[in-house]
Amino acid sequence: MIEKRAPGKLYIAGEYAVVEPGGSAVLVAVDRYITVRLTEGADRGRVRSSAYGRTPLEWVRDDAGDRIILEHHPTDYVFAAITATEQLRSSRGLAPRYYDLDISSELDDVSGQKYGLGSSGAVTVAVIAALDEFYRLGLTATERFKLALLATIDVSPDSSGGDLAASTFGGWIRYSSPDRGALRTHRAAVGTVETLFADRAWAGSGVSRLPHPNHLDLLVGWTGSPASTERLVEQVRDAEGRPAVIPYDSFAGDSRACVDDLAAAFARGGEGALDVVHRARRVLQRLSASSGVLIETARLRALCDIAERHGGAAKPSGAGGGDCGVVLTRTEGPAGPADRIIREWRENGILPLSLAPHPAT
Ligand code: PMV
Repeated sequence: MIEKRAPGKLYIAGEYAVVEPGGSAVLVAVDRYITVRLTEGADRGRVRSSAYGRTPLEWVRDDAGDRIILEHHPTDYVFAAITATEQLRSSRGLAPRYYDLDISSELDDVSGQKYGLGSSGAVTVAVIAALDEFYRLGLTATERFKLALLATIDVSPDSSGGDLAASTFGGWIRYSSPDRGALRTHRAAVGTVETLFADRAWAGSGVSRLPHPNHLDLLVGWTGSPASTERLVEQVRDAEGRPAVIPYDSFAGDSRACVDDLAAAFARGGEGALDVVHRARRVLQRLSASSGVLIETARLRALCDIAERHGGAAKPSGAGGGDCGVVLTRTEGPAGPADRIIREWRENGILPLSLAPHPAT
């Protein structure tokens, strides 16, 4: 049996601006995981999951070895990850084999409600990692990340890929997104995913690792209401398809300055990081005010305001509209700000998620 797990993630800065080619963000992978267990199958392939990919996926092959899907959901990330990796396997001349995938998730609550910690990205990355080992493809982490992005580019064309990068590389990262529109166009021309690993559309994109900020603690609160990132990204768009902030360049510049300054603060162990997170919250508030889209819901506002009252720096993680808020506080012992924030969150119906940064892989 092959077992692979991929961590969930949080956004610390750069949301929405990172969707544009060359845009950047700071993310952290967290120690909650999607786990994929792969066992070789005899006469058909199957995906089973109690928590994720609720739609059954089952396939056999015809005499020519082509995969015939018996049941699947066309927008399933699991399906997308399998399809892209099988295409790579085929382009390398390797024979197809059957396998069963068992998928379990720590990124949902007991009733199956998603926390918004990047389960779609994590399941994509974990399935690709399992198949990479099964077929002995020998992919590097960068190639697995690129394959994950190419796999999901049709399922979620507006995603920056930051979640995939965090789930692949772990730890704290600074991510810059590629030109995904160009990748889609070039893919139509070249056909295979492997050829696209060296495509010019990746120029300027990539992941750099940031040091763990030793003097800071990370706190995460869950609002209890799920949000649709796709819908929010669509809603903030102006006629040119970019986040609707006037002037756009100053929004993109402020967002990038937050990302740059946060990376610099982490290099100093975290000194100055709280101020940057305050600014990053305001950048999102400005986007919300200009576009008329509710990013900071009442519950997210309460979550952030409580944290700020106790000396933390807080903001919605990712697209907002629900899901999670993220807080950085200075590291202090028991009875420090974290305890006070968590107590007040509980009194206000906000669930603290007990998690920590996932170490870099
Ligand atoms: O809401 P999340 O955690 O899926 O994050 C979305 C972040 C955006 O920048 C708004 C979109 C993206 O794909 O980067």
